[in-house]
Amino acid sequence: MYKCNNCGAISIKWVGKCPECLSYNTMGEVAGERESSNVIKFKRKSPDISPVTIADSENLNPLNRIKTGIKEFDLSVGSGLVKGQSVLIGGEPGVGKSTLMLQIADRVAACGLKILYISTEESLVQIILRAKRLNLSSKTLFFQSLNEINEILYFIENGGYDFIIIDSIQRITVPGSESAYGSVNRLREIAHEITSACIKKNCGAFFVCHVNKEGGIAGPKTLEHIVDTVLYFDSGKRDSYRVLRCYKNRFGSTDEIGIYEMSENGLKGVKNPSAYFISERQTDSPGSVVTASLEGTRSMLVEVQALVVPSYMPVPKRVCLGIDGGRISIIAAVLEKKEGIKLSSKEIYVKIFGGISIQEPAIDLPVAVSIVSSYMEKPLPYGFVAFGEADLTGEVRGVKNSVVRIKEAVNMGFTDVLFPQSNLKDVKNVKSINGINLHPISKLKKIIEYLT
Ligand SMILES: Nc1ncnc2c1ncn2[C@@H]1O[C@H](COP(=O)(O)OP(=O)(O)OP(=O)(O)O)[C@@H](O)[C@H]1O
Ligand SMILES: [Mg+2]
Repeated sequence: MYKCNNCGAISIKWVGKCPECLSYNTMGEVAGERESSNVIKFKRKSPDISPVTIADSENLNPLNRIKTGIKEFDLSVGSGLVKGQSVLIGGEPGVGKSTLMLQIADRVAACGLKILYISTEESLVQIILRAKRLNLSSKTLFFQSLNEINEILYFIENGGYDFIIIDSIQRITVPGSESAYGSVNRLREIAHEITSACIKKNCGAFFVCHVNKEGGIAGPKTLEHIVDTVLYFDSGKRDSYRVLRCYKNRFGSTDEIGIYEMSENGLKGVKNPSAYFISERQTDSPGSVVTASLEGTRSMLVEVQALVVPSYMPVPKRVCLGIDGGRISIIAAVLEKKEGIKLSSKEIYVKIFGGISIQEPAIDLPVAVSIVSSYMEKPLPYGFVAFGEADLTGEVRGVKNSVVRIKEAVNMGFTDVLFPQSNLKDVKNVKSINGINLHPISKLKKIIEYLT
């Protein structure tokens, strides 16, 4: 029998490349593996508790949410943490995972809970220095710097902690383990041991996790399966703002995002993301359009910019930042075929301002407006917001949550909204959006009428 040192896959003959994890030279001979894989004998046993119905469930304890007071974080995890919740948080190096975890730990400790922050990467002096810089003061927040799994398990089982934070799971060591350091197999063993210990003690756990080259959580998918909540902390690269997204949540929706700004005193929730993203906008430049995009259940105003220039290349360039390139090619093709705007000899550059990325279909109309605006060198008048999906026939189609989007535009002082005709029925009699001029359109060619 041969076993992969990396992922634990078994092969009856030696192979140079593991068929499971595709790593080379990781198969090693294991003795007695065949004997140990005896047929398991299943024995029936009566469980201690009987199954319950919804009517019986009144006796069960309701979920008591722990509000951290950091509104952005509470939103991302579905209106607060739950006692015993396990959370995996991944992010690029230096994005601010440790900073966020320390701040959250402090706020949860301030609710009277006992928290242990274990750093496997930094010394105690480093952690304390950072905690002081962040002005943390809770008396029930404890710090420790260690990385041996047995010591961590001891603290979970004997420390009486309500939450334990492990920063990061990749640096935990397992004495006597055959699996390679940081390997998929090792991580699986570690995560399983820690979560089992936490469940026994009803202790919540935060695992900080490194990410791989593709930006996903480094390690086995099992990691994401065994926790209640998976969060990713992203940055807009050169910007100081960070976005916390929820990808899995057993206690709430995964729709909400939290936006933070990194400052010397730590991360601060950005209360008004719209103001943040459109603050430096030049009002009447051709190619610039504000759109109301939807993030979770909230709407956020962002600026879309397009630049259309002549091309001297056989295949003109289409460069996009923060938006899918395929979407731009489709919009350009529709504008050319249906509206006669000659874009096949032009280079098109499209950018979503602020380094964020937008994938939702409602970005089509603002992108089309910005391309036509740059092509014609005519700006959309000041005070306009646009959103809507475009189809391949040049029609503008309705999008969801049009009222929420228009409300955000009203709140931010915009005076006019260009949106799909089919959404008019949703917004016609809504009082809270009075005072904004509605411009419903059903065809992309109408865009030209609005450019001045
Ligand atoms: N003294 C400081 N003053 C201001 N900002 C700082 C200071 N020290 C760190 N930062 C900010 O904090 C960020 C690092 O945060 P943090 O260590 O929490 O990230 P991380 O995601 O935990 O990184 P790693 O992957 O290395 O553990 C830096 O990129 C910087 O923006
Ligand atoms: Mg860190």
